[in-house]
Amino acid sequence: MTFPANPFKPTAGVMPPVLIGRESVIDDFDEGLGDGPGAPDRLMLITGPRGSGKTVMLTELGKMASKHRWMVVDETASEGLVDRLISRIAPEPSRIAGVSFKPSIMGASLGEFSIAPALRPSTLRDAMSARLHSLGKGKGLLITLDETQDASIDDMTALATAAQHMLRENAEVAFVFAGLPSLISDLLNAKVLTFLRRASIKELGDVPLTEVRAAFSSTIRGSKIDIDDEALDIATDATGGYPYMIQLVGYHMWRHARRRHDGPDDAITVEDVRDGIEQARAKLGEGVCAPVIKRLSERAVDYLEAMAIDDGPSATSDIAKRMGESMDCANIYRQRLIDEHVITSPTRGRVDFAIPFLREYLRSLKRG
Ligand SMILES: Nc1ncnc2c1ncn2[C@@H]1O[C@H](COP(=O)(O)OP(=O)(O)OP(=O)(O)O)[C@@H](O)[C@H]1O
Ligand SMILES: [Mg+2]
Repeated sequence: MTFPANPFKPTAGVMPPVLIGRESVIDDFDEGLGDGPGAPDRLMLITGPRGSGKTVMLTELGKMASKHRWMVVDETASEGLVDRLISRIAPEPSRIAGVSFKPSIMGASLGEFSIAPALRPSTLRDAMSARLHSLGKGKGLLITLDETQDASIDDMTALATAAQHMLRENAEVAFVFAGLPSLISDLLNAKVLTFLRRASIKELGDVPLTEVRAAFSSTIRGSKIDIDDEALDIATDATGGYPYMIQLVGYHMWRHARRRHDGPDDAITVEDVRDGIEQARAKLGEGVCAPVIKRLSERAVDYLEAMAIDDGPSATSDIAKRMGESMDCANIYRQRLIDEHVITSPTRGRVDFAIPFLREYLRSLKRG
């Protein structure tokens, strides 16, 4: 038998073979769609660090809505967000008041237009109403927004205002926002913040290891590849329950086994697992941690290294001491790192890493 294709997907935004440990979010949303207007889970805020599975969760919830025969509009926050939403939602964008089409060389432009900022909330609302009307009875509209932390306050205000109106009118709509956890504490416009705080908030944390193990087992053994319990345990522990790492470990142990594969024994051995973990750690460091470190100043990295000495959250006073800086000075780096979403402040006077495995990565650099 030839070794089957690698089922693991260590790529941002790509659906894994099993969406591990997220049933409750999916079920809540499904229920929200079924329960009709007013259901709390029709306004959802998904938060989680990089690589925790926010984007694939939006895809999954979109699939769920499609099954209910809803229209799904997926967007990612960046300049021109609300204009893009309007152009995609309105059944006939050219008939919307307040729209001026951007001139284009060939005369007719394809959805390229801009709207006076003051008109954006009401235009978006009109676009949603018109779309719901054209969709017909029983069908709804889901808008998903990824990377919400990058949205401008103007765009978020317009979207929040329009969404609030639609929800209040008991329209068949749902909104799912996804973003980094710091989004909630960011100095967003107060109105936007109240709106998002009212959402059903789902934090995508680490996946329980028992579920990771079960998913590894079913994915691997389901492909008629053997793996013994010891190998399974080692692989599971190495993931720390971090979704991106689950895919990395799975992918690299599979690859190692396939490359070594030379006989009738289709198996992933302990040796494959150990090699796979090493590869996975290197990829995680390269792909997630190194780019973060590269953007930071030397002293900001010193701050992180001072944190990496601790096994859990650090006291800011300890960090200042370790850096040989005054509290005021260390606080400047602290704030910068929080703004960059690299660390969080779980409680007053404490800081912790916001990026999984960054601590381990910094320690490995120190070891050289
Ligand atoms: N529940 C899950 N179980 C197993 N693997 C998952 C799960 N969720 C996501 N993954 C995998 O983790 C990786 C990261 O997923 P995704 O890109 O959705 O994360 P994200 O939170 O959007 O990250 P970022 O903040 O960088 O955009 C992908 O390889 C994906 O296949
Ligand atoms: Mg993402």
